[in-house]
Amino acid sequence: MSAPNAPALRILAPAAWAATVADELVERVRAEPRLRLCLPTGDTPSPLYARLAELERARGGSFAQATVVGLDEWADLPPGDPARCDVRLRRELLDRLVPPPRFIPIDVDGSDDEAAAREHDEVARNLDLAVLGLGMNGHVGFNEPGSRPDEPTRLVRLALSSREAATARYGAARTPSGGITVGMARILEAREVWLLVTGEHKAAVLRRAVVEPEGPDCPASYLRRHPRLTVFADEAAASLLG
Ligand code: GLP
Repeated sequence: MSAPNAPALRILAPAAWAATVADELVERVRAEPRLRLCLPTGDTPSPLYARLAELERARGGSFAQATVVGLDEWADLPPGDPARCDVRLRRELLDRLVPPPRFIPIDVDGSDDEAAAREHDEVARNLDLAVLGLGMNGHVGFNEPGSRPDEPTRLVRLALSSREAATARYGAARTPSGGITVGMARILEAREVWLLVTGEHKAAVLRRAVVEPEGPDCPASYLRRHPRLTVFADEAAASLLG
């Protein structure tokens, strides 16, 4: 699984992006009700989650037997902080699904983050589907530039841009210094990987991730080692793919 593959590219009109990805996800979980998946937070998936909640309000029950595994979490934001990934995922999606899926967040509220990361590494094995966002610096989860493809779930220091996003974009009460992330090793072991990318501001980093040679400056570029990678991009994000 080390030679780069060509990802399946789904390039969608911005207005159709959320509905298309939501339909595909509901189809997946309906076909395989006990799906184990990780889901990202951030601005990219918000419209997708709104659409999923709407679909499920009408149909219901698709996620009843699924398990959602936390992808990443700030290590030093207090429980309930609005920028926390667990808070955001519950607020935007999980609490709106009836019945909700089982959710296994990353436990950052104990006294030993290293131990919590090791424990979550076991939880993150055998994912059926890893759904990811793409950071402006090429990160996936909190696998920041410099991450290697064989790294496990672990406690990481965050790039300044990621730390600042917590307060500037996600409403955190203070600037976090670190995070715990499902590692690239677990992501690449998942049966299938979806990368979600929207907006013109992500066009250059998406090109870096899927067209240019893979390298540690852009951890997302390692995703091309995965034989079943699908990139769901809107036309703006895909505008530099040529
Ligand atoms: C965040 C998260 C990632 C997320 C990415 C992109 O910091 N750790 O899981 O996918 O950055 O965020 P956004 O969708 O807001 O651009």
